[in-house]
Amino acid sequence: MSIARSLADAGITTTALITVDGVSMTFREGTRTVHALERISLTVPRGQFISLLGPSGCGKSTLLRIVGGLLRPTQGQVWLEGEPVGHAIRRRPFGFVFQDPALLPWRRVLANATLLQEIVYRDRHDRDQHVARAKEYLELMGLGAFLDAYPRELSGGMRQRVAIARALAIAPQILLMDEPFGALDAITRDRLNLDLLTLWGRTGVTIMFVTHSIHEAAFLSDVVYVMTARPGRVLARVPVTIPRPRALDVQETPGFVHLVRELRGLLDRGMEG
Ligand SMILES: Nc1ncnc2c1ncn2[C@@H]1O[C@H](COP(=O)(O)OP(=O)(O)O)[C@@H](O)[C@H]1O
Ligand SMILES: [Mg+2]
Repeated sequence: MSIARSLADAGITTTALITVDGVSMTFREGTRTVHALERISLTVPRGQFISLLGPSGCGKSTLLRIVGGLLRPTQGQVWLEGEPVGHAIRRRPFGFVFQDPALLPWRRVLANATLLQEIVYRDRHDRDQHVARAKEYLELMGLGAFLDAYPRELSGGMRQRVAIARALAIAPQILLMDEPFGALDAITRDRLNLDLLTLWGRTGVTIMFVTHSIHEAAFLSDVVYVMTARPGRVLARVPVTIPRPRALDVQETPGFVHLVRELRGLLDRGMEG
């Protein structure tokens, strides 16, 4: 038996794109210290949709920023296929989507969607290519008729669609999403969840998604990592076996209801510390 095979049998995946290895984070401001994360270890296989689910303040955003190389952990390391993430992202940047779409109000939709390409690929500037890529993703996000609109003319959901198109237009291999739909109403959120799954399926991008919504994590993910209250630790790794493609009515199936109950039970346990 090969080593890879026996590692796989032991539940250790050798095809991880991202490996978070014993990451702890302590913030120090003057005399105040906040112990935000405690020895987090997890893996994200290529092409998968992984969620971090945990209560507010448990360090989800901090962990995502460490994974994205925006913040250096106090302890531990994040690897991208065996290379420290801080090095790897210089060659190929990650895509980020935050709760706030952060569009530039004076730029039209299309010009907002090309913005990151202009920054990331400034040494290889190719205006036609940037526009073509941005258009492609805006159309996939259903915004083909709004290329010339200004952000103020769009609904909250449409603005977040622009932010997603902007992130994907740089062709990231990893998309990091931090409560991207947290400010949207439930109906808009459902639609965006569906469209995100379609987009994920088409691009093959690997997604790490932060949420405190149990339903959202269950509906979207291949694997949900449940975190405890601060300091955030990984309480459980829950694989989601609900078949794909997933439609909204999957949420009424016994399997989904059972999964939601399991995740809620874990979160409650994690709150007790
Ligand atoms: N730059 C920072 N300086 C000091 N404390 C911080 C900083 N960033 C986050 N924290 C603290 O770390 C903890 C985790 O924050 P965060 O990662 O934003 O949690 P979550 O995203 O799960 O709500 C919180 O107590 C927060 O106040
Ligand atoms: Mg957060």
